[in-house]
Amino acid sequence: MIKVTEYDCWFQKYGSAEDTKDIAAFLEHVICEEKGIIIENAAKELRFTLSFCFGIVQKSRNAGEKQILLGTIGYLNASYGFSLPKPKKEGFVIRSTDSKIIIGGADEPGVLYGVYTFVRLLALKRFVFGADVADAPVSQVRMINHWDNLDGSVERGYAGRSLFFNDNRIEFDSNRIRDYARLLSSVGINRISINNVNVRGMAKELITEKFLPKIAELADIFRPFGIRLMLSVNFGAPQPEIGTADPLDERVLAWWKDRADSIYRYIPDLAGFLVKADSEYETGPFRYGRNHAEGAHILAKALAPHNGEVIWRCFVYNCVQDWRDTTIDRARAAFDNFKPLDGQFDDNVILQIKHGPYDFQVREPVSPLFGALEKTRYVMELQITQEYTGQQIDLCFLPWMWGDVMRFDTGYGTNADNGAIRSLLACGRIEGLAAVGNTGLAANWTGHTLAQANLFGYGRLAWNPALSPGEIADEWSRLTFPDNGGQSIAGNITKILLNSYPTYQKYNAPFGVCFMVECGHHYGPNVEGYEFSKWGTYHRADNKAIGIDRTPAGTGYTEQYAPKNAAIFANPETCPEELLLFFHRTPYDYVMKNGKTLLQNIYDTHFEGYDEVRIMLDTWRGLQELLDGAVFESVKERMERQLENARQWRDVINTYFLRRTGIGDEKGRKIYR
Ligand code: GCU
Repeated sequence: MIKVTEYDCWFQKYGSAEDTKDIAAFLEHVICEEKGIIIENAAKELRFTLSFCFGIVQKSRNAGEKQILLGTIGYLNASYGFSLPKPKKEGFVIRSTDSKIIIGGADEPGVLYGVYTFVRLLALKRFVFGADVADAPVSQVRMINHWDNLDGSVERGYAGRSLFFNDNRIEFDSNRIRDYARLLSSVGINRISINNVNVRGMAKELITEKFLPKIAELADIFRPFGIRLMLSVNFGAPQPEIGTADPLDERVLAWWKDRADSIYRYIPDLAGFLVKADSEYETGPFRYGRNHAEGAHILAKALAPHNGEVIWRCFVYNCVQDWRDTTIDRARAAFDNFKPLDGQFDDNVILQIKHGPYDFQVREPVSPLFGALEKTRYVMELQITQEYTGQQIDLCFLPWMWGDVMRFDTGYGTNADNGAIRSLLACGRIEGLAAVGNTGLAANWTGHTLAQANLFGYGRLAWNPALSPGEIADEWSRLTFPDNGGQSIAGNITKILLNSYPTYQKYNAPFGVCFMVECGHHYGPNVEGYEFSKWGTYHRADNKAIGIDRTPAGTGYTEQYAPKNAAIFANPETCPEELLLFFHRTPYDYVMKNGKTLLQNIYDTHFEGYDEVRIMLDTWRGLQELLDGAVFESVKERMERQLENARQWRDVINTYFLRRTGIGDEKGRKIYR
C-alpha cells in the first residue's frame, strides 16, 4: 500500500536511507559557511528535506569526513580553491568528488535551486555520483498570481479559502506559508502577487500603513526562499483622496511616489505592482483619455527609485459589447490596444499577456502579440487554476496544453524553432511566465489532489519551457506516489494525467469554438451561455454553420499574426483542426481531414470524451489495492463528478447540434432530442 500525504505534495517520505546508502556518508554532513538569507535557508532546507524525505539525520562532523558543501560559486572558488564554472543567473552546478558533493550556485537563489534539484534527483533515484549536474532557469520572471480577496474568498479559486486573507484582514499560518514557499521555490517560482488583480473595496488599502506591516511579515517568510512579493494595485487609487488618477497630473505622480516610498520602507525588495487597468470595469488610463503607456509610466516612475517593476496586464477589451454588432471582435483587442504602443513603455514596465486572445479557454490560439512586440518587455500569463478547464473537479493536466503553447511557432524567427514561444523565452524576448495560482486552504492545497501536478508542472515549465508534458507528468507522479516495495503506481498515474487534457478537450466546446459554458461560474456546458451577452464571445451557430470568420474576409483577426501564421490560419485546409471554429465559420457538412463531416466529428469527440472519462475512472478504481485510502477516495469522488460532467457535456452538445441540423449520428448512438 502506497502511503501518500496529500499536504506534502512532491516531498513524500521516500523510504529509508537504504535508497541513498552509497552516498549516505555525505548526506549526514551538510556544510555551509557562507552567510546570507537565502543561502542559509538553502542549507536548512537541505537538512530538513533529507531528514523528512529520507530519514537522514545530521551528525557532527570530524575532520576529513565526507560532506555536502553549499555555497555560491564565487565564495566556494575563493575559499576552497575550486574552479567551478559559473552558471547563468540563478543557476547551479552539482559536482561530486571523493570527499564532497558540492552544490554551487551562481548566486544565492542558485544554491537553493541546486539543493531542491539534488533532493529531487535523489527522490527519483536519478542522482549519479561523479556526474556533474548543471542547470539554470531559462527566464528571469517565474511568477504566481493569486486572485485572493481580502475577505478570504478566492476569485476562480477551487481549493478552499485564501492562504493569506480572511475577514478583511491579513491572516495566515506562518508554518503553512513556509511550506507553500518551499513548494513554490522547489520548482523555481521567484515572484508571487498575493492579492486579486481586481482590487476592490478594502483591498485598495493594502498599500497603506494599515496593512503594510503584516504584508512585510509575509515578505519575510517568502524572502529566504528566493521569492519576492508583488502587490496588485488599483489604478484609480488616488482618485478618492485627490480627486483624480489622471496619469499626466503631477499630483497623481506625487501620490504614487509617496505610496511607493512608504511601501518600500516596509518591504525593501518588493518586486513591484501588478495592474489590471481598463479591464472588466476596473479603472484605467482610458478614463482620463490617456493610453496605457502613459498609464503604466506613472507607476513605473514611482517604483523606479526602488528598483520595482510594473507588470501591466494586456487583458483589455470591450466587455459591454452588443451581440448584434458583428463589427467588434474581442479576440483582436489585446493586439489592437498594445501593438501600437510598442516601444513607448518605460524600462521597468513588463506587459503581461494572456497566452490566448480570449481568456484561458480549453483551446484557443496563441495570442498574436507574442513575437510581434519588438521594443517592449513582456511575459506570458497562464492559468493554473482551472476556471474553464474543470475547476479542480475534472482532471485536466494543463502542461499538455502549455506544451502546445510553448512549441507554437510565432513566425518571428528565421526558422520554426527560433520563432517558437519556448525559443522566444530562451532568448529573453519573452521574459518569463506568470500564472494564476490554484492553491488555497484545502488540506491538499489544490482541491483535486492530482491538480497539484499543474502547479508543479507550471513551475517546471517556467524553469525550462522545453520540458515535455511526459517528462513533467512522470516526475510529478514518481515524486508524489513513490514506489514502495516495488508497487509502482506512478506509471498509471502518469498515463491518467497525460490522457486527461485530450479527453477534457473532446467533451468540451468543439474545435476551438470557446465559451460554451455556464455564464458566470464557468463550470458545465451551456452552448448559448454567452451568445446573447455583453462579453463579446459569440459562435453565432445557426442550422447551417457555426463559428466566426476571422479571416480578412471576416474580422481580419488572422492578419494580426506574422505572415506565415496569417496564411495558415486564414485557410481552413491548413488551419489546425482543433482551432477550426475559432478561425472559420464552418458549415456542419464541411469534410474534415479524417473524411468525416464537422458535425459527425462533434458527435464522435463527445462520445469518445465521455467514454475516456469512464475508462479513467475504471483505471483509478483499479489502483484501490495499492493506494492509501484517503487519497484514493478523494480522487475517486472527483472523478465520479467528472464523469457526470462529461455526460452532461456530451448530451448537451450533441443534442444542441442534432436539434440545429436535424441530422443524427451516423453510427446510430443515442442522442437525446
Ligand atoms: C476572467 C475571469 C475573471 C478575471 C479575469 C482577469 O475574465 O473570469 O474572474 O478577473 O479573467 O483575468 O482579470
